[in-house]
Amino acid sequence: MKDADRAEGEQVPERGIGLSRRSLLKAMLAGAAAPALSKTGWGRAAARNPLYFPPTIYGGNVSLTCAPAQANLGGGRISNVLAYNGTFPAPTLAVRKGQFVNVVLHNGLAQETITHWHGMIVDEQNDGGPHMAIPPNGSHSYSYPVVNRAGLNFYHPHPHRLTGEQVCLGLAGALIVRDAEEDALGLPGSLYSGAPPLSVPRTRAMPFSSKYEVPLILRDANFDGSGNLRYNPGGNGFFGDTPLVNGTIEATLSVDASVYRFRVLNGSNARVMRLALSNGSMFRLIGNDGGLLEFGSQVGTFVIGPGERLDVLVDFRGYAVGTSVMLRDLDANWDLIEFLVTSSHAEGNIPSGRLSTIERLANPVRTRTFEFEGMNKVNGRSFDMNRIDFQVPFGEVERWILTTRGTAPHPVHIHGASFQVRSRTGGRGQVFPWEAGWKDTVLLLDAETVEVLIRFDRQAYYSGPQRYVIHCHKLEHEDAGMMSNFVVN
Ligand code: C2O
Ligand code: CU
Ligand code: CU
Repeated sequence: MKDADRAEGEQVPERGIGLSRRSLLKAMLAGAAAPALSKTGWGRAAARNPLYFPPTIYGGNVSLTCAPAQANLGGGRISNVLAYNGTFPAPTLAVRKGQFVNVVLHNGLAQETITHWHGMIVDEQNDGGPHMAIPPNGSHSYSYPVVNRAGLNFYHPHPHRLTGEQVCLGLAGALIVRDAEEDALGLPGSLYSGAPPLSVPRTRAMPFSSKYEVPLILRDANFDGSGNLRYNPGGNGFFGDTPLVNGTIEATLSVDASVYRFRVLNGSNARVMRLALSNGSMFRLIGNDGGLLEFGSQVGTFVIGPGERLDVLVDFRGYAVGTSVMLRDLDANWDLIEFLVTSSHAEGNIPSGRLSTIERLANPVRTRTFEFEGMNKVNGRSFDMNRIDFQVPFGEVERWILTTRGTAPHPVHIHGASFQVRSRTGGRGQVFPWEAGWKDTVLLLDAETVEVLIRFDRQAYYSGPQRYVIHCHKLEHEDAGMMSNFVVN
């Protein structure tokens, strides 16, 4: 029996120390307010479970095996999962811009799979699109230089018609890119800790101790009668009744009264989340899908769809020991994770001023329109692995108009390049602060039309035309065929 290792990197909050009666009562109430727990026969949790930290692998030389495993979701709740290297979520990969990622993927599943590096700018051979799927026992080798800016990317399976199931059952992880621009800001960067000297310059002064950067992979889940993850999508996609953060049910993180950097990924199959802090305080938004924004801003509530990422600072300075703050999904009325202040140690600050400089795409040479329709169509057609729907030249700025006629939300994702969101008309009628800078996934709600500018840059190592996909990242829409092949050349 292979049990995902929960001990490594786990931050165990010192329960009972500084836990005021009020927050204890709150924790109990939070337990009582989660009917999913009693449904699955686990009984009620009086205390929340320490947030799981997947192990971090530095330097990009990785062997990844997808296979069935078992994971402790917290409080001794063991679930059968599908896992990369036996951990759920998958190991966090940490690399630097300019470095090579060398991954050998082994398929230990009973069905085909392929791993896609969502957000990474790579050629077709390394993109892990659906036509690259490998059979059970097959392998695929990836080798590519990191051309991305610093940012949080998302790796997950991408086999046609099986993506939703494989992601839902546990195959998903974070790939974090570092670069010199980010280093200069002195942001919390715990993922440096323990890194081999070759992959990380150790000369840089570490302004924060290692624990102040925390990846948070958010998603929902359903369970069968034995407490195992269950993939049971409904007609409108998979919606779970229980939130997981880094694979942890009712997660809690013991925090100092310091500045924390949370690297947030909506790793749900279909669920759009409306994120806020329970005490009404603001997040400091500093980055999104494609890395740092030009300037930080104060944001109280985020709406993010599957595949979207946020880089946010939360300032716990001045909070009394014993204070409990929940990260909530206001749409589902869920407490996703508790931040429990257990130490008055205060460090860190919020960078003011410019974070980054971002080239502004302009003067598109042509316009294309993509209509996301029903549950399975882009521009009136369902995905066909062997049909190339359009051709795009390298190096030209294009305007892509993404639109829907009902059946949204559609979180639209494009492989092969990042884009910039220029406008949203209909629906919410605005571009939000977390949609500035570089994006690779943008959320369409009903009646919305979003205009983006995009340019595919030919990297030095690319040879010949490169094939990519544009698709809806509601994974049940994608699996049903809301995806289109294109070739850049
Ligand atoms: Cu995250 Cu083509 O997907
Ligand atoms: Cu992608
Ligand atoms: Cu969709």
